Parts: sequence; C-alpha cells; structure tokens
Amino acid sequence: MEVIICRNADEAASLSADLIEDVLRQKPNMTLGLATGRTMEDLYDKLAERHQKAGLDFSLAVTFNLDEYIGLPAEDPNSYRAYMNRHLFDRINIDKCNTFLPNGVAEDLDAECAAYEARILDYGGIDLQLLGIGRTGHIGFNEPLSALQSRTRCKTLTPGTIAQNSPLFDNPEDMPRRAITMGVGTILESQRSILLATGTEKADIIAKAVEGPMTAMISASAMQWHQKCTVILDEAASAKLEHTDYYHWIFQNEPEWEPYRAKYSA
Ligand code: F6R
Repeated sequence: MEVIICRNADEAASLSADLIEDVLRQKPNMTLGLATGRTMEDLYDKLAERHQKAGLDFSLAVTFNLDEYIGLPAEDPNSYRAYMNRHLFDRINIDKCNTFLPNGVAEDLDAECAAYEARILDYGGIDLQLLGIGRTGHIGFNEPLSALQSRTRCKTLTPGTIAQNSPLFDNPEDMPRRAITMGVGTILESQRSILLATGTEKADIIAKAVEGPMTAMISASAMQWHQKCTVILDEAASAKLEHTDYYHWIFQNEPEWEPYRAKYSA
C-alpha cells in the first residue's frame, strides 16, 4: 500500500484521473472497476473533461461497477446505473454494452452475483479498481464483518450507511436496505487499485484502514493485503494519520512518482 497526500480534493481527483489515464493509454481495452458516491463525482468530471478536450479514448474500455442497490431498476434515478450514466458514461465515448453493473432487480439474485463474478473472469479480471470508503470502512458495500475472501453477493447495509446515503433519495425512506456488491476477495484480485478519500469526515476511518490492523470490521483495511493499492487523500482525510512524513518521503523518492511530483507535491 502507498499513501499519497495531495493539497486538496481537486488535486486528489486529478492525480486519480492521471493514473487511470496512464493505464488506459497503455491498454485501451483495459477493464476498469468503478465506484459511485460523492467523492467520485470530481474524478468523473475530470475524466469526462479529458475525453471532451483531449480526446481521451474510452471506446475499447470495459467497466465493472462495485455495487448496485437491490430493488432499484436501471431506470430509477437513484440506481447506480443511472448515477454512472449521468456522471460518466453519457459524457465519454464508451460503448455502453461494455459497462457492467450488478442487476439489482434480477429474479435470482444469487445467480446474478455468480454470473457477475464469472463475467469479470471472462474479461480477464480487473486491471484497475477504483474505490471510495464509507464511514463504516466499507469498500463497495462490504460492510463490517464482510469476509476478507468474500465474493460478489447480497449484503444488508448498516444503519450508518443508510444514514450516509438516504439524503440522496427524494424520500429517504425509499433507500433500499440491501445491495449487491463485489466481495473483498473480488476486489483483492484486481491488478491495481486506487482508494480515493477526501474530507474531514473520512479522517478517522482512513487512519484505521491504513495504519490499524487488518480486520473484517473495516473492509478497507484489507487493501493492506492488495498487491498494488494506492491510497490518494487530501490533507483533510489524512489528518489522523501518524506517519504522514513517511508517506511524503516515499512520494518524493520513489521513481514511479517522479512524473507526478512537481504537480502534486503537498
Ligand atoms: C459505492 C461505493 C461506496 C462509496 C462510499 C463513499 O459504489 O463503492 O463504497 O465509495 O460509500 O461514498 P461517498 O463518496 O459518497 O462518501
């Protein structure tokens, strides 16, 4: 795991976009794992802008989202499919046939979860998985106690997550209590991952996930086990970390970050 602390949320989103762009330029048919949520909106704005102004080409890319609410059809404005269309897919040149989310209204939800896993494998696995973090420490909707080897499945959301997301619904009571989510084990199999977190309200959980012990009570802590996870933060989200000097040192000295240093040195 590496931690990069940017000066602000805009730079954190911009660095995340740079890393996605680098992989996409090297491998135009990359498989990109996507997240939803407020934190991702700036990043998707930046990717859309790079497509519109600099021709960043998504025509061969394939995407798999982490999760979808159970009971919401794709056409529901609160579904994650609708979110993705609005914030990214309708603004870039991706072929929507190559964009996958779990079907939250499938008749047989367990079969849907198994088929989702199989499809990820059919596409050769995920090259780059993008993650946010919930205040419960979830990645995707892997709420506390999610097995570290879990696969795509149905999960009941915690009251904390419902409190976090229900204000986005016209009627907060309409927020589903369950979702389909990729498992922690599924996420751990991605070749590379970026966990993007910004804002003071993420500082406590980031400190636990990054510097605390790996535990099923905080799914994001499992990213300590990932082969190549880059945690990208703004200063607010990094505020409770103890070893920030060390993280800055790595960013200043690791050759991989040389091309980014001048732009993002905090
Ligand atoms: C949703 C997802 C979640 C969010 C997390 C943070 O697809 O993956 O793990 O990333 O709940 O959400 P925001 O950014 O709204 O704080």
